[in-house]
Amino acid sequence: MVLSEADKSNVKGIWSKAACHLEDYGAEALERLFIVYPQTKIYFPHFDMTHNSAQIRGHGKKVFLALHDAVNHIDDLSGALSRLSDLHAHNLRVDPVNFKLLSQCILVVFGVHHPGALTPEVHASLDKFLCAVSAVLTSKYR
Ligand code: HEM
Repeated sequence: MVLSEADKSNVKGIWSKAACHLEDYGAEALERLFIVYPQTKIYFPHFDMTHNSAQIRGHGKKVFLALHDAVNHIDDLSGALSRLSDLHAHNLRVDPVNFKLLSQCILVVFGVHHPGALTPEVHASLDKFLCAVSAVLTSKYR
């Protein structure tokens, strides 16, 4: 998944709108994931799944902080996500199909909170970025 310079600039632009809402947006993306695709909850049997639980907020923040870091290292996603790539492939063994589902929920969060900024071009760039992140996080499965 190759991101053009225009893609990178679109991603940085829309991500800057999320920068001060990482916990809120992360928690919303996760809640959408668990409600729209309940099969994803099997990876989180130890989580309190009630609305806005401390675990959902805490984990949502971790996921969005990792994405924030990835945006800041958009030219070296493999390096920036190396530790997380090991974790998801070797320890968590999350089925790769789930990354598409989470990406979809993240796109919806941006559509809800920043409808004007999520033009079709920015939508396409953010989708490509999330595909690139997912490709790195699922690259070490064997
Ligand atoms: C843990 C990021 C996709 C399941 C984590 C952590 C981060 C993270 C930052 C915490 C690592 C740590 O504590 O050191 C991401 C990103 C994703 C992604 C950026 C894609 C955009 C997924 C998906 C699933 C998943 C699709 C499954 C549906 C898990 C689980 C944990 C975890 C089960 C451990 C949670 C816990 O016990 O606290 N992920 N993740 N991840 N992730 Fe992901």
